[in-house]
Amino acid sequence: MKKITIAIDGPAASGKSTVGGRLADKLGYLYFDTGVMYRAVTWVALVRGIPIEDEAAVTKLAESLLIEVTRPTVQDGRQYTVYADGEDITWRIREPGVNRYVSPVSAYRGVRQALTRQQRRIGAAGGVVMVGRDIGSVVLPEAEVKIYLDATLEERARRRYREAQQRGTPRDYAEVLEDLKRRDHIDSTREQAPLCVAEGAVVIDSTKMTVEEVVARIRALLKAAKEKDILPPSHKGTKK
Ligand code: CDP
Ligand code: CDP
Repeated sequence: MKKITIAIDGPAASGKSTVGGRLADKLGYLYFDTGVMYRAVTWVALVRGIPIEDEAAVTKLAESLLIEVTRPTVQDGRQYTVYADGEDITWRIREPGVNRYVSPVSAYRGVRQALTRQQRRIGAAGGVVMVGRDIGSVVLPEAEVKIYLDATLEERARRRYREAQQRGTPRDYAEVLEDLKRRDHIDSTREQAPLCVAEGAVVIDSTKMTVEEVVARIRALLKAAKEKDILPPSHKGTKK
C-alpha cells in the first residue's frame, strides 16, 4: 500500500507527540517531532551563552547545528534520542528554561527557514507522521492527511502537570498553565508560519477523548482517504 504523509499540528500538550508516536508505530511509519529541533536550538543557545534576543546569532546557530533524532538509546521513557552536535540532550530540552525561550526562538524567520528545510527533506519520501505547529500549512502542505489536534487550555495544563508528577519532577499547576498560555499566544500570533488550522485539516478536539480514541479517529480518517485514492476516478464521488 502506498505510504502517505500525515501532518499533525496543534497547541502545546494537545497530545500530538503521544498520538503521533502511536499512530506511526501502528502504521510502521517514521515518526518525527519537529518541536525537538526548535527546542535543541534553544537549549544550545542557552548553554553557549548566545543571547536569545540576538536574532542573527541564533539564526547562525540554527543553520550550523547538527540535530539528529534516533531510536531511543536508553529505556527511560523517551520516545527517541536527540543529539545536538553529538551530545545527548533528550531530557534537557524539556527543562523550564527551554519552555521559556523556545517560542521567541521559533519566531525568527531564519531559524524557521533552516529547520523547515531539514524537515522537508525528512518528509519527502512519505511514510511519515510529522508533528508540530506548521506542518500542514508550511512544511508539508501536500500531506494527504492533515490533523489539527486541540483541547482546552485547562485540560492541556492538567496533562502536562500530571506528566511532570509522574516523571518525578513536579511543577506548579498555575505555572504550567501560564507557560502554555504564553507559548500558544506567541506561536499563533507570530508573523512567520503561525499556528493555525491548515487548509484541508480535520480539527479534533481531544478534551474529552482518550489517546486511544484519538488514534482510532485518525485511523478512520486515513482509511477513508485511502479508499478514496484506490477507487478509479469515476468512482471518486465527482457528481456529473
Ligand atoms: O511539546 P510541546 O507542545 O510543549 O512543544 P513542542 O512541540 O516541543 O514545541 C516547542 C515549541 O517549538 C513550540 O511552542 C513552538 O514555539 C515551536 N515549534 C514551532 O514553532 N514549529 C513547529 N513545527 C514545532 C514547534
Ligand atoms: O505533543 P503535545 O505537546 O501536543 O502533547 P504530548 O506531549 O503528547 O502530551 C500530552 C499528554 O496528555 C500525554 O501525557 C498524554 O498521555 C496525555 N493525553 C493525550 O495526549 N491525549 C489525550 N486524549 C489524553 C491524554
